Amino acid sequence: MVDLVNQYKEIRLEIDTAIRETIEQGAFINGPAVGRFRDELSIYLDVPYVVTCANGTDALQVAMMALDLKPGDEVITSNFTFIATVEVIGLLGLKPILVDVNPHTFNIDPDKLRKAISPRTKAIVPVHLFGQAAQMEEIIKIGKEHNIAIIEDTAQALGAHYKFPNGQSSRAGTIGEIGTASFFPSKNLGCFGDGGALFTRDEKLAQKMQMIVNHGSKIKYYHDLIGINSRLDTIQAAILRVKLKMLDVYNSSRQTAAAFYDEHLKNHPGILIPRQTGTGTHIYHQYTLRVLNGKRDQLKAALAKLGIPSMVYYPVPLSLQKAFHYAGYQKGDFPVTEQLCNEVLSLPMHTELQIEQQEFIVKSLLSNL
Ligand SMILES: Cc1ncc(COP(=O)(O)O)c(C=O)c1O
Repeated sequence: MVDLVNQYKEIRLEIDTAIRETIEQGAFINGPAVGRFRDELSIYLDVPYVVTCANGTDALQVAMMALDLKPGDEVITSNFTFIATVEVIGLLGLKPILVDVNPHTFNIDPDKLRKAISPRTKAIVPVHLFGQAAQMEEIIKIGKEHNIAIIEDTAQALGAHYKFPNGQSSRAGTIGEIGTASFFPSKNLGCFGDGGALFTRDEKLAQKMQMIVNHGSKIKYYHDLIGINSRLDTIQAAILRVKLKMLDVYNSSRQTAAAFYDEHLKNHPGILIPRQTGTGTHIYHQYTLRVLNGKRDQLKAALAKLGIPSMVYYPVPLSLQKAFHYAGYQKGDFPVTEQLCNEVLSLPMHTELQIEQQEFIVKSLLSNL
């Protein structure tokens, strides 16, 4: 699905130098590369404050802690996402309120989101799934109307743009009160281990988040808040500094690969290609098809026989995961998500995909439908 080794080979010299310099400096925690990466990411995203942390799950947790959410407060998010988004809601004793998604973009449906608002709603977490921003214009409007904070889960969409109807364009993750990112190796900007970050335009929130990731402390050994230990290693920051310079190039090679898939797969009646919203860019963290007529698993198996990997992101709606049984959702509550879980299939998508590989994938796919 990804080819991290060949990606590394292209930038080996710079990466090796960055790692060696970090080791020679011996500042493995909070070394100079961490602050530099923070500043460079803030410039890239055009957002004043970036706080780095240990992974994208922690970033979501820290965001919710910084907003002072209290046990029992409701947090609305998409039912079709990676577990982490909902896991932290449960972990903090908050109540997850799940919402169905748009069947073509896979992102939270703003009309259904509006209906899920209650007087106890304290945050909304749109997830920019597979590399494309959710309908932020509508979501921000709902947040403002009800005075509810928006946390954008940008784990899969770092670098994507969202375009407002007035023409203004912002990077995904910089529109709501807080944006969160993951630098898991396979992400569009991935490090060589775990890493994460939060972004905000609010100075007070930034200061609080910076304290929370550091045991609630601003001055060493003085703790004003209950925090956690969530740090981006210096080595990871040094690697990310090199890779951040490549992010737009990486995203555009994913777009080129996606355009090839689109062109060759768009006319088959048995599949639906991923739809672009037209409000911004899609950076294809995943290229995810819908395979119709109950043929998804059969197609996946046929591809596997030919040595072509494919993945089902995600096979089970969060509403039906055992861990969230307590939330009381039943089968049938989220028809779109439930259908997608039976139909979606993600194809190999990464920065090193060769045209011959894609030709083979497309030919094999079409002849097995
Ligand atoms: C949508 C989404 N949110 C959150 C996360 C969590 O990120 P991490 O694995 O860095 O904790 C991921 C990672 O896969 C993700 O895809």
